Amino acid sequence: MCGIFAYKGKRENASEIVIEGLKHLEYRGYDSWGIAYKSKAGIVVEKRVGKIGELDLNTIQLPTSNTAMGHSRWATHGTVTEENAHPHFNEDQSIVVVHNGIVENFQELKNKLIKNGHTFKSETDTEVIAHLIEDYMEVGFENAFKQALKELKGRFAILAMHRDEDKLMAARRGSPLIVGKGKSEYFIASDIPAFLEYSREVMYIDDNQMVVLNDTPKFYNIETGEKITKRIVEIGWNAEMAEKGEHPHFMIKEIKEQKDTIARAINQNEKDIMKVANEINNAFGTYLIGCGTAGKVCLAASYAFSEIAKKHVNPVVGSEFPSYKHFIKKGSLVIAVSQSGETADTLEAIEVAKQKGAKVISIVNVEGSTMDRESDFSINIKAGPEKAVASTKATTAQLAILTLLAYACVDRLKEGRKLLIETASKINDMLNPRYEQHIEKLAEKLRGHESMYVIGRAMNYAMALESAIKLQEVSYIHAEGFAGGELKHGPIALISKGTPCIALVANDETKQDILSNAIEIKSRGGYIIGVSPENHEIFDYWLRVPDAGNASPIVNIIPVQILAYKLAVMKQNNPDMPRNLAKSVTVK
Ligand code: M6R
Repeated sequence: MCGIFAYKGKRENASEIVIEGLKHLEYRGYDSWGIAYKSKAGIVVEKRVGKIGELDLNTIQLPTSNTAMGHSRWATHGTVTEENAHPHFNEDQSIVVVHNGIVENFQELKNKLIKNGHTFKSETDTEVIAHLIEDYMEVGFENAFKQALKELKGRFAILAMHRDEDKLMAARRGSPLIVGKGKSEYFIASDIPAFLEYSREVMYIDDNQMVVLNDTPKFYNIETGEKITKRIVEIGWNAEMAEKGEHPHFMIKEIKEQKDTIARAINQNEKDIMKVANEINNAFGTYLIGCGTAGKVCLAASYAFSEIAKKHVNPVVGSEFPSYKHFIKKGSLVIAVSQSGETADTLEAIEVAKQKGAKVISIVNVEGSTMDRESDFSINIKAGPEKAVASTKATTAQLAILTLLAYACVDRLKEGRKLLIETASKINDMLNPRYEQHIEKLAEKLRGHESMYVIGRAMNYAMALESAIKLQEVSYIHAEGFAGGELKHGPIALISKGTPCIALVANDETKQDILSNAIEIKSRGGYIIGVSPENHEIFDYWLRVPDAGNASPIVNIIPVQILAYKLAVMKQNNPDMPRNLAKSVTVK
């Protein structure tokens, strides 16, 4: 869950390019950072604890260099200190590495290296890699790098440089790594936004592959040593899409982008949608898998398939899916839903599904991501770069695609498209400054509370769970979502005078029941915030949403996203980088 980035080319401000690029990857990890660059004196390393986004370039000396690499860390092994921040050197500081992932057998390797006389400066698993390369140096840097990789267990993305070699080495197994091609210059990064300013031409490094970057990159299979030819792919994102622009945070920028992203998401090739719909119709069983917010989207979609397509699909949390492997067989269909396409738990689920002979389709935002490439077929949700840790525009784009698929399963694609286009236009009307102010007033009332609850039914039960995630991750207020009907089975004991409770009320067959549940809460003293197309007497505060029929989860989650954002800002939390969380969870 770290960001790594390197530059090699003709420009002389390599370290500055790397620092600026790392700022775009900060969402992947932000407890400390570091860079290494080549200078006449050897390799120079600069490390700091804290966010790289807060670095003022005037406070750091960066001599000219045309090769540099860097890392934005999210601690796994070793506490947050400068010593543990990457890059890490070997003994004589001739080799330096940065690493994303976990070296599962690091203790075993470390013990062996200590016996060989190596001494370590950090508590990290990464430092082992630099020492291991050093141990093989008699076969030359490139071969030593290859040898070291063979000994590492676990998922990784690694970059390495040697003081006396004009080469950058990179390798991947399970953690993303992409090469960007500029004019006589190359970039290697965990994610595309790091180099979007310079290049939109990319080469994807696949699992068990390494790159030797000299003047041009040479790709090899780590296991066999076989040379690999890579295709250059032009990507559809541009630098502006990955910038905050006039907005104070990415989260609010991305919430507002939902004016456009829903329409963009459903603007898919009809043949692709029908292909997936046919797969669902013909599958022995369909599983929708995702983690966190994507998992809640899968749950919402299972209700949509029931309601619209009269079809049973099984929503399963990514990390739990391997326990269902006993049911999976040839003919089963797994649809993986993910913004990043790199979530380790979902990737593992895909691996299990494939081993059992199931077909895998992914619904992802990041083109060329591991999930995209590991699947038999994939649909891109076209939300553009989502950089705030809290997922917003990707969530509603995923909901839109899955709703469309439910309609497509019963030959009602046109009707589904019409519904979603109308919903997109209603969202456009809803997202205005007055609406935001109205939610801000509510945030003022709620900011001092320690707990709040969200209830919903059917598709909006899933959105109640998603609402809780949004509120938890950025406002740090304890929030829980419940199925309205479950209250009386326990949770209602939590309600006392003034306890805020958000009721997601859709204009469908669940309306009367969820209103009754809200009444039960109110009669115990709860403060009811109604998210609904109509105002009801029971509401203490009304957040109006358009009536969107089967697309109600899409419109209902948006005011909660704004509320979570406003609470975060009021509480002086950074909504883009909430504590203890990273955007891509690439570890199990
Ligand atoms: O990239 P993914 O969609 O696979 O990520 C899955 C979850 O980690 C993600 O949705 C997470 O729950 C978000 N921070 C929620 O806002």
